[in-house]
Amino acid sequence: MKIPFNRAVIVGNEMEYIAQAIVNGHISGDGCFTKKIHNLLETSLGVRKALLTTSCTHALEMMAILLDIQPGDEVILPDFTFVSTVNAFVLRGARPVFIDVRPDTLNLDESQLEAAITPKTKAVILVHYAGVGCEMDDIMEIADCHGVPVVEDNAHGLFGKYKGQFLGTFGVLAAQSFHETKNFTSGEGGALLINDPQYIERAEIIREKGTNRARFFRGQVDKYTWVDIGSSYLPSDILAAFLFAQLEQREKIQNHRQQVWETYQAGLSTWAGERGVRLPIVPEYCDQAYHMYYLLLPDLSTRQRFLQHLRQQGILSVFHYLPLHLSEMGQKFGGEAGDCPVTERVSDQLVRLPFYNGLTGSEQEQILSAIMAFKF
Ligand SMILES: Cc1ncc(COP(=O)(O)O)c(C=O)c1O
Repeated sequence: MKIPFNRAVIVGNEMEYIAQAIVNGHISGDGCFTKKIHNLLETSLGVRKALLTTSCTHALEMMAILLDIQPGDEVILPDFTFVSTVNAFVLRGARPVFIDVRPDTLNLDESQLEAAITPKTKAVILVHYAGVGCEMDDIMEIADCHGVPVVEDNAHGLFGKYKGQFLGTFGVLAAQSFHETKNFTSGEGGALLINDPQYIERAEIIREKGTNRARFFRGQVDKYTWVDIGSSYLPSDILAAFLFAQLEQREKIQNHRQQVWETYQAGLSTWAGERGVRLPIVPEYCDQAYHMYYLLLPDLSTRQRFLQHLRQQGILSVFHYLPLHLSEMGQKFGGEAGDCPVTERVSDQLVRLPFYNGLTGSEQEQILSAIMAFKF
């Protein structure tokens, strides 16, 4: 492909910091670069505790353990999301209750939330799709009223805000992704953000194979031992070194991504308006995270021809997500066609355009002219 969908690029001191981690002689988890990231996330977002993990999926798995999800418990989540949002909870025996998304932001439709809550509901899991905030005022009010904790799968939304407050700071817990396709990356990686301090101590234990090793290193216990369930959720400090260099450049990265997003939006608005193509909608009270740029084509066959057309021009665009309730697993939980009509429709229409930190102005011009040449 002349223009890939995503390409990982060096933005700052990645190579120097990796070399430094190796010279430091500490390349396992929780070395100095991991600690620098914890500190950066805690101070820049204002969260009580940040813990780097091996992926967002693993941060979500830690969440499910922390919330003490048991077989038969229900969790509510949007139908239009990545598999990990649901799988982490199903692994602990939860029954997923999928809610349709709003047709504008493609976030969980808060008007359907209250009716989905039952005495078995143990959590509401939100996804800030494309880094645009969910309707947090309404969602928090409904969840608080029923005493149900809210958690955020903020894989797309680092440094995005809803009404001036950072995404990832609303729920009791939030999960971040540093996968290669995200704004800031270590190839694979993630973080658990903890806003409710009651979860901090147990989170440290779960992340360290169920041991109280973190307390031992702080001198709070004189030996460390097996105290709970857990797994190995710490990334190597070599990965943290790479990621820290990326996070240090957050202003530069976010400015560039904003420019890419605005170039798409300005370049496509007339074209889209004349052809019934829907561009992203960002409410004025949301500062988005500039994670992705997507289009909604009129229907599935046009979408498939559009992807094929771009591919023939050497440009890789992709689609996602398939409705979870209609997946093989979703159907085992009773999902049927028609349950979530917005997700079913959007899933057929959506195209994600190439969007990465090294995307150049000339590459974007090529993408825009290839789009203009598409015959409806
Ligand atoms: C909404 C959402 N949640 C979770 C994930 C999983 O992230 P990771 O690959 O870091 O486990 C993704 C991946 O893209 C995602 O889009």
